[in-house]
Amino acid sequence: MASEPNKSVLLASNRGPVSFRQDDAGRLHCVGGSGGLSSALAAIPPQEDALWVAAALSDADRLAARSAPSGRLDAAGYDTGTIPVRLLDIEPLTFTRAYNGIANSTLWFLHHLLFDTANTPLFDRRFRREWASYVDYNTAFAQALAEGAAPGGRVLIQDYHLTLAPQLLRTRRPDLAVGHFSHTPWAPPDYFRLLPDDVAVALLEGLLAADHAGFLTDRWARAFLACCESVLDARVDWAHNTVEYAGRRTVVGVHPLGVDAGAMRARANAPDVWARMAGLRAQVGDQLLVVRVDRAELSKNIVRGLLAYRELLRRRPEWQGRVVHAALAYPSRHDIPEYREYSASVQRVAKEIVDEFGSPDWDPLVLAVDDDYARSLAAYRMAHVAVVNPIRDGMNLVAKEIPIVSDNGCALVLSREAGAAVDLGDAAFLINPFDIEETAEAMHAALSLRGEERRARSAVLAEAAGRCPPRDWLTEQLKALAATADR
Ligand code: G6P
Repeated sequence: MASEPNKSVLLASNRGPVSFRQDDAGRLHCVGGSGGLSSALAAIPPQEDALWVAAALSDADRLAARSAPSGRLDAAGYDTGTIPVRLLDIEPLTFTRAYNGIANSTLWFLHHLLFDTANTPLFDRRFRREWASYVDYNTAFAQALAEGAAPGGRVLIQDYHLTLAPQLLRTRRPDLAVGHFSHTPWAPPDYFRLLPDDVAVALLEGLLAADHAGFLTDRWARAFLACCESVLDARVDWAHNTVEYAGRRTVVGVHPLGVDAGAMRARANAPDVWARMAGLRAQVGDQLLVVRVDRAELSKNIVRGLLAYRELLRRRPEWQGRVVHAALAYPSRHDIPEYREYSASVQRVAKEIVDEFGSPDWDPLVLAVDDDYARSLAAYRMAHVAVVNPIRDGMNLVAKEIPIVSDNGCALVLSREAGAAVDLGDAAFLINPFDIEETAEAMHAALSLRGEERRARSAVLAEAAGRCPPRDWLTEQLKALAATADR
């Protein structure tokens, strides 16, 4: 059943702002969503007449979508916050192949430079099946967006799950102003060209059907432009960040994303966070606390981060007994073997460190794998040093959130390959994420700061991190899209 074609702003992302779980009695419960992307989009100004289209991610989500007229959860009485949501009931195998096979194995690995020489990816029959599902999945979104948008409406499509959707939507609704935003890095052309030719072309043509293609940093935007030039032979205007291709022009924009400092501080001051702080304080005592908080996922480079901590304890034994490392590494996308194996290596290395240095009087490392946001925030507040060392990252909001809520002032060891390095680089200790010794020395320098110096740096980080909060980020994109449509 089609929904009313009446919304002037549509958002589209794989993961929506709410998800469902079914209790033993079969009742569905609507719970808030998670993740940086969905909290950023949730900041859409209430005065915009918006609809958010997302995929049903589980059986419970699919049941909810089926029970709601036109998949509109608000129409079925579910509270989706300030914005109506339509969940797409995509056939489960199609969804799994598109999400696990293409989005999170192939494209995530591509843009984070994670291809390995052994077996990821393999462009074979299975890949072709997955690719066909990715096309179907993108088509389902394009169809829903085409049905939901008012004439001349604006559509903001998010991320690598939906690279083809702009083109599929444009063929259905040429009247719409279409934007796409990439929350990941973008692979450089030599790497991008490792994709099968037809796939590389389809992805770029998919995005170029948008009027506006947004990226988090200039570097990712330029990599995209370079791919358009090199793979498609498109006309790139490097001075104005535009691409002309197939008779159309796409504006490529750079929109960094920051943190809503007020909301973040309020959340970090809630009773559940205070309770976790008491627990953590009992473990840490008066030692210095080094914190990392990530999804256990290959691009986050957790194993090298732990090896760097081990290197610190070996080469600077004066820190033994004076510091504790809390590594919070939450499981992510565990249907994919590479992610499961990565979590296992994180646990293995953590155990080696405890075996090498632990004693009845000192726990050098606390590894936590059960997802607990309140505990993450407690660690954020209490950290003296934060380690954020991804191999590559579109932005990395943890690096921005920690200084904002820090109680003691927090020094930041930050990968120069994270988008956040552009905004925070001046006050952080920047490292090459592959360099264990450099990372260990940066941890040493960060731990060695006097309290006053640390607080001063932390204040600079917090100020930079609070720029471009989600609401401004979204408003900017809507404006940019309106401007391209006017042209
Ligand atoms: C991270 C990335 C986003 C991406 C999201 C998907 O947060 O930065 O670019 O959209 O992961 O995560 P999911 O849990 O939905 O696979």
